[in-house]
Amino acid sequence: FHVDWDLVTAEKAGFDHFMLKEIYEQPKAYRDTMGARLNDTGNRVVLPELTMTEEDIRSIRNVHIVACGTAYHAGLVGKSVIEKLARIPVETDVASEYRYRAPIITKDTLVIVVSQSGETADTLAALREAQRCGARVLAITNVVGSSVAREANDVITTWAGPEIAVASTKAYTSQLIAFYLLGLYMAQVLGTVEDAVVSETITAMQALPEQVEAILEQAEVLKGIAEAVSTHDNLFFIGRGLDYAVAVEGSLKLKEISYIHSEAYAAGELKHGTLALIEEGIPVIALATQEELFEKTVSNIKEVKARGAHVIGVVNDGDVELAKSVDSTFAIPKTLALLTPALAVVPLQLLSYYASLARGNDVDKPRNLAKSVTVE
Ligand code: G6P
Repeated sequence: FHVDWDLVTAEKAGFDHFMLKEIYEQPKAYRDTMGARLNDTGNRVVLPELTMTEEDIRSIRNVHIVACGTAYHAGLVGKSVIEKLARIPVETDVASEYRYRAPIITKDTLVIVVSQSGETADTLAALREAQRCGARVLAITNVVGSSVAREANDVITTWAGPEIAVASTKAYTSQLIAFYLLGLYMAQVLGTVEDAVVSETITAMQALPEQVEAILEQAEVLKGIAEAVSTHDNLFFIGRGLDYAVAVEGSLKLKEISYIHSEAYAAGELKHGTLALIEEGIPVIALATQEELFEKTVSNIKEVKARGAHVIGVVNDGDVELAKSVDSTFAIPKTLALLTPALAVVPLQLLSYYASLARGNDVDKPRNLAKSVTVE
């Protein structure tokens, strides 16, 4: 009897790559990150780890979210979540820009740094600058005991478990869960949403892990789409509102590992320039999960369709309307509009994975990139 494997193969637990394993670990990462942060009756968020008091939360006048790469994209969703639930103005910045733009930071500013590794130099420098200006810093990180975790005033740990693949997947979605928890918690303290909305949101969050599993079951469909996309050198992601925030992450994922040039565009902004790049056969991945913006997004999709784009729509389950105006659709399970990023990004992760694979790239270790960037 001979077992032909090494430690790395064993760690991949039967998956061909760490990235794929980590994509499939997302339901568990969601459950673990929510874990003990919901009360016994499942209708309130509890964050016992916070040293920040309710009084401190009431004194927050503005929030700055600062991060790099994929964590920055989680911060774009975080901005919508906190503004919608807690009604506090939020700005999201790339860490390497934040420090140099003389941001207006006061003691009433809450600075939230987001970092999977907790070691990114730019993020750490932004944290220090924020504290120097008297702000309280809350870190959302995946590594207990990391530099960011040690230096921040408060920490919300994402319990995604170790992430090995350079392209971040489960860390990103766990960061989204952390933002939902934080947004709800702040809303509870500030009384900015009704109790019924809090419990409805929590119930919907608890359904997310199973809904992600349902998406993962359709991986083969995405593999087919990815193989078709992988022969192109350019493509676009479009969406409005939260769909736009997911589009930028989908585009980054594709660039990182497939090396296909892609651009994410706010769908309504296309007509102000980028539409000139749309030509016959170019793939456009159009996210249309936000009901309030649906009609507007559809009209943008028609703009690219009319110029010959090959449109792949990401829609909510049961939406048959969009299928009439696009080339193919991929449906995600229905959830609250605010929570859709936690589902809509999953098909985009799989799409990138399979496109990278089809191009024969090193999925887990893309060229020129590092998992953690500790230089500024
Ligand atoms: C690197 C990684 C990215 C990551 C970024 C921020 O560039 O390749 O995947 O999003 O750093 O990393 P952090 O650990 O701070 O989340």
